Amino acid sequence: MRKKIIFGNWKMNGTNAEVKAFLELVNKNIEKSDVIAGLGLPFTALQTGIDCAKNVKIAAENVHFDKNGAYTGEISIQMLKEIGVEYVIIGHSERREMFNETDVTVNLKAKALLENKMIPIICCGETLQTKEAGQTIAFVNNQINKAYENISKVDALKTIIAYEPIWAIGTGKTATAQDAQDVCLAIRQNLAKIYDQTTADQITIQYGGSVKPGNIKELMEQPDIDGALVGGASLIADDYVALINYS
Ligand code: G3H
Repeated sequence: MRKKIIFGNWKMNGTNAEVKAFLELVNKNIEKSDVIAGLGLPFTALQTGIDCAKNVKIAAENVHFDKNGAYTGEISIQMLKEIGVEYVIIGHSERREMFNETDVTVNLKAKALLENKMIPIICCGETLQTKEAGQTIAFVNNQINKAYENISKVDALKTIIAYEPIWAIGTGKTATAQDAQDVCLAIRQNLAKIYDQTTADQITIQYGGSVKPGNIKELMEQPDIDGALVGGASLIADDYVALINYS
């Protein structure tokens, strides 16, 4: 039985003071112990997140795949581990579109994180153009095949996938619950081809893209949607609490 894993992703939002105030509110109001709640934060707010969060896992929103070196402005896995970060969002479409993230770097990051016993949240998702061309499943499966290259079955079980159609991110246009379910099922079928059905059945697949308190329940009721990665709505404490306490 897969537990629901619902993470916020604050993107480039949140000062330390804002994160502290948010978590003080949220800590008191999260009821559900059967949902794993999390929050992706900018690097500068991670320590505050770790210090203030009670039942909320803290995620970084990116990391470099190399151990250290001449990478001005980058952050290493060891730096995140040192402050207690366990989860890292990788391959978000915003990083792919604006910061040169590729399937190859996503794979390098996933492998490096797993070697370091950290949990990658591997994002995938198609553009509107790809969707309209009827290529969603082929496109997403190709992203997944590349992300999981040379990752063992044992390690694959520790990963999380976030399916985020790009056309639904920040647009208010959520995929219908059925459409999101269809793609998440196709991802799981592809994981069964890469590994086996038992492995595929244990991997968490989140949906992301304009998730809000008003639509989370229907999305979470789909058999292959195991959680959510939420941008905009996760910035508002009341909405974040409602998302975690959705049922
Ligand atoms: O990582 C989160 C996604 O980009 C979704 O963002 O909920 O604002 O559409 P959104």
